[in-house]
Amino acid sequence: MKKLTGGTKELDVPSIFGMPGLGKTTLAMKVYNNPSIVGHFDVKVWCDVSQSYNRRTLLVEIFKQATNDNSEIKEDVDIADKLQKALKGKRYLIMLHDIWEVEAWEDLGLCFPNGEYGSRVMVTTRIEQVATHLQHCGELILLDF
Ligand SMILES: Nc1ncnc2c1ncn2[C@@H]1O[C@H](COP(=O)(O)OP(=O)(O)O)[C@@H](O)[C@H]1O
Ligand SMILES: [Mg+2]
Repeated sequence: MKKLTGGTKELDVPSIFGMPGLGKTTLAMKVYNNPSIVGHFDVKVWCDVSQSYNRRTLLVEIFKQATNDNSEIKEDVDIADKLQKALKGKRYLIMLHDIWEVEAWEDLGLCFPNGEYGSRVMVTTRIEQVATHLQHCGELILLDF
């Protein structure tokens, strides 16, 4: 919680790692819905990444939640660019729930603009390789048995 609301004004990416059943989803959900977190961010997005990850589908989903705009987005629209513009200047919290592959993070991570607003992208994962990669982007929270 302190990591999300305090600390650096730069974009920070804390992540939660642990094997299935340890309580990652429960913890992430509690934090995400906590009133002090809800009140702190301009934009909040919960995104289930899942194993059958599709970049465009997820970016569309993130954009829709971020803007509360449910209208159809045409195939030829550069959704990454649209999302970047929608998030710019805002203090956002994006929860990327259950990332399975490093590539998914590399694809999505580039779409989130940096800025001095205290935005956060939080990740949960059960994959050690993803956790190892993410520890360079922000604090890694290891859930023990
Ligand atoms: N702190 C906790 N104390 C007791 N039970 C918990 C706790 N956190 C999670 N659980 C329970 O453990 C199970 C697994 O939690 P979940 O959040 O789905 O784990 P994960 O996402 O790591 O697979 C769920 O039934 C959940 O209700
Ligand atoms: Mg889970």
